[in-house]
Amino acid sequence: MRILVVGSGGREHAISWSLSRSGKHSLFCAPGNPGMAELGVLEPVKADDIKGLVTLARDRNIDLVVVGPEVPLVAGLGDALRAEGISCFGPGEKAARLEGSKWFAKDVMNSAGVPTAQSKVFTDTDSAMKYMGEDASGFVIKADGLAAGKGVFLPDGSDEARSILDTLFGGRLGESGQRVVIEERLKGREVSILAVCSGTDCVILPPSRDHKRLGDGDSGPNTGGMGAICPPPEIEDNFCETAREEIILPVLRELASRGIDYRGVLYAGLMLTDDGPRVLEFNVRFGDPETQAVLPMIEGDLADLFDVAARGGSLPSEVSVKDGCCACVVMASGGYPSSYEKGFLISGLERVEDAVVFHAGTKKTDNGIVTSGGRVLSVAATGSSMKDALDRTYMELEKIEFKKKYFRKDIGRTI
Ligand code: AMP
Ligand code: GLY
Repeated sequence: MRILVVGSGGREHAISWSLSRSGKHSLFCAPGNPGMAELGVLEPVKADDIKGLVTLARDRNIDLVVVGPEVPLVAGLGDALRAEGISCFGPGEKAARLEGSKWFAKDVMNSAGVPTAQSKVFTDTDSAMKYMGEDASGFVIKADGLAAGKGVFLPDGSDEARSILDTLFGGRLGESGQRVVIEERLKGREVSILAVCSGTDCVILPPSRDHKRLGDGDSGPNTGGMGAICPPPEIEDNFCETAREEIILPVLRELASRGIDYRGVLYAGLMLTDDGPRVLEFNVRFGDPETQAVLPMIEGDLADLFDVAARGGSLPSEVSVKDGCCACVVMASGGYPSSYEKGFLISGLERVEDAVVFHAGTKKTDNGIVTSGGRVLSVAATGSSMKDALDRTYMELEKIEFKKKYFRKDIGRTI
């Protein structure tokens, strides 16, 4: 197959790496990154250039487009490709509202009877404050629209809640914050589920967990993700079956009843509460960095699975998964997620033998590969146990050097 992967982060590198393993496919990446350049042809079309991507897919006779980021999906890339008869593993604009609007996601979950936190939508501070009552620390405030991970707030008390609401309604996140979902605050450990969906059928990939906070011991600000493990240690045997029957399939059926045919990955962020799993959020794409920890665990050619899903065919009941575990640690630029310097030379990549290195914020220059973003690389290794996978990941990661490199030392150990 001729496959076009859209995106340029660690997630897209991991997808490309996985799709290239069988050696049966020709890969194209738009716009890709220096790591992806070793697996396929880089095409200089940006991931949010819908017209440009459709033209590219047509010109290169692409059989299957696999979309990484949410922005093009929310902007209708899936529909635009399908309208041209090009197969796309990625949902259309209407389905992408599951990620693009927290309120839409809540509405779908409530109609489908999917377990989630109780919530209500607001468009002004006073009504929202009234709903939360005396103590806002029992609630979560979520901007309705896309906010690149910056739209969820857990206020310590009512003063903080009021100031968050005022800033959101004051326009800090633009349109995204003009509607706000207030949700009951749940307690428990988090698990990410990635489901490959083909309309009303789905197959669940092995569960994972990301580490969103910047600092060791889960301290500091939220980030795009500093590492991930697959599978989380306390997952029970029937967990995937429960997630499939009680969460993913009901959502797909509810969408179908609204005329929405979901083809692509559906990511459910779950909290394991004392009352069972509850959905915190949906994403309409692979998670980053979860993908870098999940895909190395899967055996067989994922291209076939994505192709069947993209065509709305019938999926196998499960994918073949390796024994053991996978760990992924993100190497970031010091200062991320706030400001950081770029352009530092990265050395030691060729010394990594026992792990895969996925590129994200890197750039190729005449002097070699340099840092060019906040999350620079993710290093992933498998092992017979989580300890084995983590030891290997950290041992290999130490071979890579760049100025001001930063990574968490406790991935997989704290949560
Ligand atoms: P979201 O983007 O909705 O997944 O939210 C980002 C993070 O905020 C989640 O990974 C949780 O750690 C936290 N969070 C979101 N919703 C809730 C909730 N209802 N209760 C407690 N924590 C939450
Ligand atoms: N790791 C969380 C996300 O991809 O949204």
